[in-house]
Amino acid sequence: MFSVAQSRLKGRIESYWIAEKAVSTALELLPAVKIEGQPALVIGYGQVGAQIAVLLTQRRMRVAVHDADILHLIDAHESGYITARELGALLTGHAPLIIFGATGRTSMSTHEFQALKRSVCLASVSSRDIEFDLPALAALAAPAEAATPDHFRRTHRLPGGVDVTVLAGGRPVNFHETDSISNLHSDLVYAGMLTGACTIATWPAPRGLDPAWADTVLEDCGLLQDYYERYGPPATPETRVPTGSCHR
Ligand SMILES: NC(=O)c1ccc[n+]([C@@H]2O[C@H](COP(=O)([O-])OP(=O)(O)OC[C@H]3O[C@@H](n4cnc5c(N)ncnc54)[C@H](O)[C@@H]3O)[C@@H](O)[C@H]2O)c1
Repeated sequence: MFSVAQSRLKGRIESYWIAEKAVSTALELLPAVKIEGQPALVIGYGQVGAQIAVLLTQRRMRVAVHDADILHLIDAHESGYITARELGALLTGHAPLIIFGATGRTSMSTHEFQALKRSVCLASVSSRDIEFDLPALAALAAPAEAATPDHFRRTHRLPGGVDVTVLAGGRPVNFHETDSISNLHSDLVYAGMLTGACTIATWPAPRGLDPAWADTVLEDCGLLQDYYERYGPPATPETRVPTGSCHR
């Protein structure tokens, strides 16, 4: 196996593009609201979530962050975000207008929905529709009158009058009715996949999944050097580095 999905190349470079598309799409899907100065919450301060937090701050929102991993939580705190070890404390105390889920797991279910004290929009970046427990949300409340089609945004009114609006059907917002990233952006990851296929076909590969081996191949094969030459600062004869060829 050769995992580009788990590679440093994809995580380090592509996360910003995903976050940028997710934030811009989610904000477009919001009902007409003024976002500057409003509270936002990011659950999951990993590669994608950290970029989302930066982008929301640039949009002048007041950003809180929760992560189940204490190291990531400390990183978020020392990066200047409002943080709490308990997600419920942020749901109630920070009272976000919009919540981005980027954990890759189910971060909000019945308990968390019941902690909401103001109406909120939910935007997932995680694969499929697992980030928010949609059956639990539907069970808590009958769907309110929705002014827009379901796949666009769907509002559930909880007991007490809190409206919870799920954007893009709870699926990754960056994929909503569009390519997640442009062809020019996805070239890098596709080139990484071709490199992996070429390497597995032509060299003995370690058994099973070895992310470190895939990282070594991707970072030694010349792909990133080519990328830097194409998109980095203009090369001079002194700074030009000879590119490698596909090898182990
Ligand atoms: N939409 C897209 O185009 C796209 C692209 C890449 C990845 N993804 C998905 O986005 C997710 C995040 O990707 P990533 O690269 O940032 O992953 P990551 O592993 O770097 O970050 C996930 C973070 O979530 C935290 N976390 C996990 N469970 C949690 C919970 N229950 N509560 C709070 N925090 C929790 C982890 O500690 C970690 O910091 C992945 O599931 C991935 O499948 C989506």
